[in-house]
Amino acid sequence: MTGLFITLEGPEGAGKSTNRDYLADRLRERGLEVVLTREPGGTPLAERIRDLLLAPSAEPMAVDTELLLMFAARAQHLAQVIRPALERGAVVLCDRFTDATYAYQGGGRGVPETRITELERFVQGELRPDLVLVFDLPVEVGLARAAARGRLDRFEQEGQGFFEGVRQAYLRRAQATPERYRIIDAAQPLAGVQRALDELLPQIVERIGGR
Ligand code: TMP
Repeated sequence: MTGLFITLEGPEGAGKSTNRDYLADRLRERGLEVVLTREPGGTPLAERIRDLLLAPSAEPMAVDTELLLMFAARAQHLAQVIRPALERGAVVLCDRFTDATYAYQGGGRGVPETRITELERFVQGELRPDLVLVFDLPVEVGLARAAARGRLDRFEQEGQGFFEGVRQAYLRRAQATPERYRIIDAAQPLAGVQRALDELLPQIVERIGGR
């Protein structure tokens, strides 16, 4: 794989999409091919799986169903979008990936980490993100931002305790392999977040140049 795989993670309301677009613009200015995508989703079929995952429904979704649908969508996304883009040498900027499974299904729902690791190996083989940007902010700030956006999806309807578990799981993963992760304070004004991204740019450009 000659491209670079960068994922953006964090709770609801952390500004991932805005910052993903900002980073994409800066990388394109430098002449790089950038593929913007997201999970769950990123292909027509995976977006249909996303709809199943996010829609509130009267029938409760079993935890294992949720976990397997996340990885089913991921398998499709990897085959159709992510692997081909990386093989072409593009920078893939993906709004959420498997760290979200460790955070939401692991930290939030209590799925054992070993089970997620098994599925990760099965679906991804050796493929892991080169860089994970974790947009961190206090749970109540993120929830208030999400609520201000309007109707809540199935995940956004979860309570404070669930999102505390999500946040701690992200922070634990970032601390365990600091060379692959950057924690960005997403509670600060946008200009500060963008300065943090600007500081990362030379490193990203250098990494892809070396491939
Ligand atoms: P978002 O992309 O609009 O933030 O919504 C996607 C939701 O799906 C979000 O609440 C996080 C959740 N999610 C998981 O629970 N596990 C995963 O593996 C991924 C990719 C997302």
